[in-house]
Order: sequence, then structure tokens, then C-alpha cells
Amino acid sequence: MQTVRDAKIKGKVVLVRTDFNVPMEDGKITNDLRVRASLPTLEYLREKGAAKIIVISHLGRPEGRDKKLSLGPVAELLGKKMQNVAFVDDVSGPDVEEAVAKMPKGGILVLENLRFYPGEKANSADFIREIIDSTGAEVYVQDGFAVVHRAHASTAAVADYLPVYAGLLLEKEVKNLEKVTKNPTRPLLFIIGGSKGEDKALLIEKFAKLADQVVVGGKIAADGYSGNDKVYVAEDFDIDETGAKLDVGPVATTKIAGYITDAKTIIWNGLLGKAEDPAYATASTIVAEMLGEKEDAETVICGGDTTGFVENLMDDHKNLKYSLVSTGGGAALEFLLGRDLPGLNVIE
Ligand code: 3PG
Repeated sequence: MQTVRDAKIKGKVVLVRTDFNVPMEDGKITNDLRVRASLPTLEYLREKGAAKIIVISHLGRPEGRDKKLSLGPVAELLGKKMQNVAFVDDVSGPDVEEAVAKMPKGGILVLENLRFYPGEKANSADFIREIIDSTGAEVYVQDGFAVVHRAHASTAAVADYLPVYAGLLLEKEVKNLEKVTKNPTRPLLFIIGGSKGEDKALLIEKFAKLADQVVVGGKIAADGYSGNDKVYVAEDFDIDETGAKLDVGPVATTKIAGYITDAKTIIWNGLLGKAEDPAYATASTIVAEMLGEKEDAETVICGGDTTGFVENLMDDHKNLKYSLVSTGGGAALEFLLGRDLPGLNVIE
């Protein structure tokens, strides 16, 4: 894969696709993992003498312009982590041209939410050409791993007009996910939870073949799933007063802990209980702590709820370390399923 390390950066205007689709509540960013994860590439570009760094992203799923989904607050947050960050509330045209002209050397300009414009999801060549023309972009860096499963103008059509390189986050995600799926140190343990869905069932089937052990918890187990020698489905649950099974129980948790102790590679996708309620977060907390303290295994955490949970825990327990806390929700899932990822195809 061609990465930024292979690109000629010095003196160039670089267009960087990040995934700044961060969770927000009442206009406040509740988890900044995706912004933090983009820093190594942005810092690298600056270090290598990029003339201007133009950052593009989507946020949410707006139908047209929606103030609540402006990337302004995300740019503001980025500005607290790096110097010389500006924001412009458009993606092309005179305002963007003016903002680009005002940028200092090595400055970063965040453009407005790409999904305010229909051209983004339509993978429109004209839309991305306007962005390239207005910013003077000469090189394109894809660092938004979480969006590579979408064939949109900023992930696919763009590759027809600019030389394409992977950013450092994208490289790290792909390398780690490739290693644990294609060349894992065994035993490989796959822990899956969350709610039932077609993709989850496919993941269990796939990992029943690929892994040495699969563990099923969360709502999928609570709703009933038939296991076999390879696939252990939680056998007991913590229940509430109505009888709803809201967390994996102590017998299953002990069994899962045993699998974790033996494993040398562990992939975890999906919470084991209704972990937003501390009363039902016990099994997920034990798993997160065991994985974060395990020094003799590669540990990969993926899925939005699971990474959010682990991130919160890491805030309080600084000793927890994982090989990869993936920024990719749907993208990581599709990667694990071995599906075609348009945003990666254009790099490879
Ligand atoms: C995500 O959060 O999974 C990505 O940003 C993609 O968002 P989307 O599902 O709205 O395309």
C-alpha cells in the first residue's frame, strides 16, 4: 500500500480525508478518538513541509445543510490539539479560495461537512473536482479508515484526479486487522456481543472457521444462539426484575476469562451486556481489563460501542493497553468479513 511515507509532500497542497464523524450530544463532542487518531498523519505532513493541509470529512447523515452537523466544533477541537487550524463553512467556491489564500505555511484548513452536498454520496466527479480546484490540492491522503467502506466522492472519485496515499492511521488499522485475521498468532479468540444482525451472524460463521475459539455474549446470546465445539454461547445471565437478560453471568464470565488467558490473539466486537448501565457492565469490564492488561497477546477492539466503552475505561485506568482500538465501526466489520472496501481499492 502506498503511504504518505512514499509521497512527495514538501511544498505541496495536501487534501486529507479524515473520518471526523464523532459522537455528539447537545453540540458537544462526547468522544474524540477519531480526532486524536488523525493527529499522527497531520503532524507528519506538517513535519515533511506540506505547504497547506486541507482536511475533509463528513459528520452524521444530514439531508442537506444542517447547523447541528457542522464540522466547526470538530475543527475547534483539532485547534486545541494542533496550531494553525482554521475552518471554513463551505467546501468549494470563493469563501474556500479566500480561506486557502490566507493559510500560513503548513496551516490546516478544515472544510465544512461533505454530506451537506448531494455530490458526496453520489460519488460525483464534478463535486470533488470543485473541491480540488478551489483548494489547489495536489496530493490526496486517505486517513479516514472508518469511511473506506463507502464509495463516495471523497473516498472514490477523488482517486481519478490526484495521486492517492494512505495516511498513518489507515495504515495502522489495515496492518493490525490484516495481521489478526490473515496471520494470527494462535490461539485466536474472537469475542462477539451486541445485538443480533445479519452481519453479526456472518461474522460468527466466518470466525468459527478462522479462530480457535469464538465466544458469543451480549444480546445475541440473550436472544438465543446455538453454539458448538468452537462457538461458546454464554450460558447464564444477570437479569433484571422483569427477567430480561442484561449481562453475561458469572459462570460464562469465568469461562470467557479462561479463554482470554489462553489466547495469543483476541478480537473483540460488541459489548457483552447492556454496559451503558453500570449494573450490567460487569462482564464487559472484566473482558476490557483482562485484554488491556494482557501482555502476551495482540488485542484488537472494534465496533463503535465497544471502542467507546474501552476508551472510557482507559480514561480511568491508564495502564490498559491494546494493540488496536479501531476507529472503524462499519468499516472494521466489513474488513473482518472480507468485503470489498472502495476506499482501500483506490489505494491498492
Ligand atoms: C462511521 O461512523 O461508521 C463512519 O463515519 C461512516 O458513517 P456512515 O455509516 O454514516 O457512512
